[in-house]
Amino acid sequence: SGPETRTPTGAETGAPQSAVAQQGAYLTTANGTRLADTDHSLKAGPRGPVLLQDHHLREKITHFDHERIPERVVHARGAAAHGVFEANGAAEGVTKAAFLRAGTRTRVFVRFSTVLGSRGSADTVRDTRGFATKFYTREGVYDLVGNNIPVFFIQDAIKFPDIIHAGKPHPDREIPQAQSAHDTFWDFVSLHTEAQHHTMWNMSDRGIPRSYRMMQGFGVHTFRLVNEAGETSLVKFHWRPKLGTHGLTWEEAQLLSGKDPDFHRRDLADAIEAGAHPQWTLALQVMPDTPEETFEGIDLLDPTKIVPEELCPLQEIGTMTLDANPSNFFAETEQVAFHPGHLVPGIDVTNDPLLQGRLFSYIDTQITRLGGPNFAQLPINRTHADVNDMLRDGMHQTAVHAGVAPYKPNSLDGGCPFHAGADEGAFIEVPAPVAESVKERSQPASFDDHFTQVRLFYRSLTPIEQQHVADAYAFELGKCYEQAIKERQLRALAAIDAELCAIVAGSLGLPVPEPEVEVGDPEPSPALR
Ligand code: HEM
Repeated sequence: SGPETRTPTGAETGAPQSAVAQQGAYLTTANGTRLADTDHSLKAGPRGPVLLQDHHLREKITHFDHERIPERVVHARGAAAHGVFEANGAAEGVTKAAFLRAGTRTRVFVRFSTVLGSRGSADTVRDTRGFATKFYTREGVYDLVGNNIPVFFIQDAIKFPDIIHAGKPHPDREIPQAQSAHDTFWDFVSLHTEAQHHTMWNMSDRGIPRSYRMMQGFGVHTFRLVNEAGETSLVKFHWRPKLGTHGLTWEEAQLLSGKDPDFHRRDLADAIEAGAHPQWTLALQVMPDTPEETFEGIDLLDPTKIVPEELCPLQEIGTMTLDANPSNFFAETEQVAFHPGHLVPGIDVTNDPLLQGRLFSYIDTQITRLGGPNFAQLPINRTHADVNDMLRDGMHQTAVHAGVAPYKPNSLDGGCPFHAGADEGAFIEVPAPVAESVKERSQPASFDDHFTQVRLFYRSLTPIEQQHVADAYAFELGKCYEQAIKERQLRALAAIDAELCAIVAGSLGLPVPEPEVEVGDPEPSPALR
């Protein structure tokens, strides 16, 4: 343990990270030939036409024509910062991850985002926020790719394209954007009532954070930790902002969207530049790793459920400080590539079916977004550990690999056999049992309770917070054109809380319905009463 002693990289200091760009006294072509003029095209005489021969003109315009890369398919709008994470050692008993040993300092890069809006959309919309952290540990990159809301809309990744299609702008007119106020969103969440929990958090003050500096972050899924002795536990990750958790009122958010659509981006950059470095503590909820993978009756593989802190208190394991702004938005914020499968020894995934699908999705989308399979070589994505892989070639390969035998083991390249190195810091998946019957498209019965925890959340709020929730439902549902969708969503609210349903129905001028399904009420699980 102890502080890492590696030489800081450009990413760590926030300094420009390219050794090739914009150096030297003269303007040159991309290939280094000195230029005499960059303001006038080469012409046949002063009045033209312009000659095809002008290499500088063609290079300058061609490169410009290709400046844009596709925006992220979700979380396109974001802002990021560099920082440092310092562990306090409290996690040493449950994980062997070296960066969580007492006193270890690890450089991090954090990207905050909205989910639905495009790259140029406004910051202060009602939406979930991404909270993705890249830890450059000496055992490899560890990514904690979380959100500011502790649950997710769906329980199985196969429905991710559906919920995102429902939330993104309509395909015909490309409106509305970055708001949940439209028919397809409410159609989806009223037809898929597992989404009601996440939606209630969106309708609460959590849906419009005051600042990225004042947001909690959650790993959402349950992860499996393994310690030096090989013992495992099931955990949930929580980021807690030192500035407290604050929201904007809907009126403030609407005004800000007009006056300063970059409000959150500006706030983060200005604070860091002024030396007001935002901080978060990282905390764990640690639960026993039992064959059932439940805790106090809560299914830990269901990403639509929380574990209440009263049942499993948080244990702080370290502090993160964001201390430097990116020096180039494109190179760092835009090109950073997070992946929930970037793990280090001591941290493993569970069989949460949402998490399992994410493990496939991120690398797949990044191959398109970042133009091929070599984006791990981009400065912002580069690990601070040694890399010795057998990956070769591909678009945008920048490594010049040596040797003649790109496979292991081999008898040609200096006799360097591959060995697993289980005892020497290699990542080993924790063996986990699978059910006797495989190839099922079903899910556990415990995934069917869609309302108990939503009610728990609503009833935990103060009266003014409950008022905000009711106002948000009324406003957002009021934007639906289809009466049947409003009525179906009211039936879901009736199953959550009759009083809330009555207030929202009253605001919409609709009759108060009977709940469509009887779930949970009046007997919530003992743990959640
Ligand atoms: C991007 C979180 C579920 C696919 C992101 C980002 C975050 C995030 C924070 C932004 C990363 C960045 O800043 O670059 C989450 C959380 C989820 C979740 C917390 C559930 C608990 C899913 C699922 C899928 C998915 C189920 C697909 C099956 C994607 C994709 C991107 C993305 C494709 C864009 C990545 C890129 O272009 O770099 N997600 N996500 N996510 N997520 Fe998720």
